Amino acid sequence: MSKSRIKYVCTSCGYESLRWLGKCPECDSWNSFSEELVETSKKKSNAASNQKSSVYKISEISASEEDRVKTGIKEFDRVLGGGIMPGSVILLGGDPGIGKSTLAIQAAAQISSNVLYVTGEESIQQIKLRALRLKIKSDNLSILAETNLNLILSSIKESESSVVIIDSIQTMHSEQFDNSPGTVTQIRECTSLLMEEAKKGHFAVILIGHVTKEGIIAGPKVLEHIVDTVLQFEGESNHAFRILRSQKNRFGSTNEIGIFEMYENGLVEVNNPSELFLSDREKNVSGSVITASVEGTRPILLEVQALVTPSNYGNPQRVTTGFDSRRLSILLAVLEKRANLRLSATNVFLNMAGGVRIMEPAVDLAVCCSIASSLLDKIIDNKSVLIGEVGLGGEIRSIGNIEKRIKEAEKLGFNRIFIPDNNMKGLKLNSGIRIVPVNNLSEILHLIFE
Ligand SMILES: Nc1ncnc2c1ncn2[C@@H]1O[C@H](COP(=O)(O)OP(=O)(O)OP(=O)(O)O)[C@@H](O)[C@H]1O
Ligand SMILES: [Mg+2]
Repeated sequence: MSKSRIKYVCTSCGYESLRWLGKCPECDSWNSFSEELVETSKKKSNAASNQKSSVYKISEISASEEDRVKTGIKEFDRVLGGGIMPGSVILLGGDPGIGKSTLAIQAAAQISSNVLYVTGEESIQQIKLRALRLKIKSDNLSILAETNLNLILSSIKESESSVVIIDSIQTMHSEQFDNSPGTVTQIRECTSLLMEEAKKGHFAVILIGHVTKEGIIAGPKVLEHIVDTVLQFEGESNHAFRILRSQKNRFGSTNEIGIFEMYENGLVEVNNPSELFLSDREKNVSGSVITASVEGTRPILLEVQALVTPSNYGNPQRVTTGFDSRRLSILLAVLEKRANLRLSATNVFLNMAGGVRIMEPAVDLAVCCSIASSLLDKIIDNKSVLIGEVGLGGEIRSIGNIEKRIKEAEKLGFNRIFIPDNNMKGLKLNSGIRIVPVNNLSEILHLIFE
């Protein structure tokens, strides 16, 4: 007989407690506990205990990279590491209305094998209307409107699908648990069940997940540990473009990003992101600098904008968009100490134009020069690109992928690129762009405002 009592689960990290708590001791989030039922005897079958597990020699197992299912959407395939790996579970998260269902259905429509799209949010007619708007015509795509996972699993077997899309994991529930859909237990257990079946049946699952207002995928963090790949679909509400980012990937790099633009007839891939990011640029404005960042395998040119204003209050403001604010504090201290720029009583606003988020230190030099340019109100010539990491001593340190960055700058018509002196070694120079090596901050500030 099944007996149940109540437990409290942190909706952010999955921490369990017998009492309600205001603050989670595990992840420190406030007001995140929700009431759930504890199953003291789960209705799981014990048939598995009679089965024998098989051990294989690694040399006997056949698997190949070519098994990956290509979606035909290059940006999507690249972020996944070259396509969807059979047997894998991919979690696709994003803000409401960002275009998760659109991306999933557009990818599904191009797959040449059977795809099952399970919707728990929309009716099949609504899906059809979206498909008509997106001009999707595919004989391999089947739609199922269902939220009961046990029924879904039998439909998956019947349909012999190679890819299954679950839209969304928060609406699914399994009969084995009495908790309502969207609770931590249901999300976790449904994901585990799907994962188990996906590995056994060698089909891939794309789980669509909602994001909470803090920007984390709703449901416990443990979900991110269970799945193979976590993709985040993000965008700025005032821009048409969307960025697909991989946060975790068991079968590929996590640095890759995919860029799309949202139109009425769906998402369109952006093949040349540098052109897109530089298109709105206001030339001849102080505080604007172009840099070259490498996201995964692809170089992207983008504009760094800084605005430095006097602060009337004791505590000057430091606001960043798309850049780490702690890194900015370090660079401000370096500029103050090594380049004698008075920044301690000024407000500094820093923006990576276009809504991208850049984590790599290769953009340090551009950030420093854009701040100096705004502070001194001197314009940096708009045909120059700056790259390099800035050390605490004000030295410009070498960076990776230098040739890719130089080539991209040359391709987009820039005529001068400042790079770390140490990167000059071993650089095969055969380009039309002028390459200027720099050693430290004071040197570059002299060169750039000549
Ligand atoms: N007729 C249209 N013209 C232009 N863009 C549209 C149109 N209809 C929808 N869109 C775009 O598609 C987006 C919604 O896409 P979609 O339903 O795939 O998002 P979602 O992330 O799945 O949302 P949810 O979280 O509600 O499931 C809208 O925010 C809008 O940008
Ligand atoms: Mg949706």
